[in-house]
Amino acid sequence: MVTTSAQPIKRTSMTDHNAPINPLEEMAHLLDSDMRAVNAIIMTRMDSSVPLVNQLAGYLIAAGGKRVRPLLTLASTAIFNGEMTRAHLLAACVEFIHSATLLHDDVVDESAERRGKATANEVFGNQASVLVGDFLFSRSFQMMVDDGSLDVLRILSDASAIIAQGEVLQLSTANNIDTGMETYLEVIKSKTAALFSAACEVGPVIAGQDKTIQKSLADYGMAMGIAFQIADDILDYSSDAATLGKTVGDDFREGKMTAPVIYAIQSADTLEKEFWQRTLADKNQNEDDFDLALAMINKHGALEKSMALADEYASRAVSALNVVPESALKTLLIQLVDYSIRRKF
Ligand code: IPE
Ligand code: IPE
Ligand code: MG
Ligand code: MG
Repeated sequence: MVTTSAQPIKRTSMTDHNAPINPLEEMAHLLDSDMRAVNAIIMTRMDSSVPLVNQLAGYLIAAGGKRVRPLLTLASTAIFNGEMTRAHLLAACVEFIHSATLLHDDVVDESAERRGKATANEVFGNQASVLVGDFLFSRSFQMMVDDGSLDVLRILSDASAIIAQGEVLQLSTANNIDTGMETYLEVIKSKTAALFSAACEVGPVIAGQDKTIQKSLADYGMAMGIAFQIADDILDYSSDAATLGKTVGDDFREGKMTAPVIYAIQSADTLEKEFWQRTLADKNQNEDDFDLALAMINKHGALEKSMALADEYASRAVSALNVVPESALKTLLIQLVDYSIRRKF
């Protein structure tokens, strides 16, 4: 067994130790015993006879993370009085898929920081990160098979394939300054929102809800995931590493075509277009180019435009829940959308 703890990180300070201060913490509080069960499964199922697997997976997983996706699976099951033991296994499975994509993503993005620590690729190298990512993916499939539902297997395996395609599509659009909003949305739907959607859809599926309810939760997760990723892309231009737990400015250095740059390029004059061509397309960046990029992004209100886009998807997420009966968990799911786009990390 690995000896590291799998508790989620909390970078915000609690003003009152008994009172959760945001919808994510409130949800974690409400589903505390379920989340403990999920964490226990995570610890048991990441165990391997190969020490490097334990060290590397333990390193990433012990760093915590917000645990948004497993909480969504728990909430979307509990809301319909579904069987929570199945939800525990599937929530852990969803977090494994997420962890696998993070390991691979940090190699591809050459990222140096994640969850406030050096990335696994920095500490253990790219090869080990890719291989342990593969292990976590494969383990997640074993867990789906253990659950035994073909419907669940279809939902989560479809999501895994879509995530991989999203990352490849993103790779092929990087450094292409002609990339528009439509392609960007396709990338983030695939690489991020598909897993949010699947995490939410399995709840009503295992709770035996009808197709309308299943679709409403899947739609909620999809719209919420899109808004969540747009917020992440805004943070890459507006936060700082200490708050975010990841290096800021990675997207610019990588030439990633995300909402803030796409909006800035749409409004760029000739000189600005030349700047984006040199820095993003020709990959010729100087030390102060990130600050220049920020100045152009701000000049054109590109972060505000990106936030407006995130807001649009946030509203869609909330509307998707219209058919779901009122409950405390439904209120939290609604509040979680707004929190996800206004979050600081
Ligand atoms: C990071 O996801 C990858 C994105 C989709 C932006 P999270 O922001 O949920 O990462 P952790 O799990 O909390 O570290
Ligand atoms: C999200 O994209 C990664 C996945 C969904 C796998 P990013 O590359 O923006 O995520 P961070 O910023 O590295 O967490
Ligand atoms: Mg990344
Ligand atoms: Mg990012």
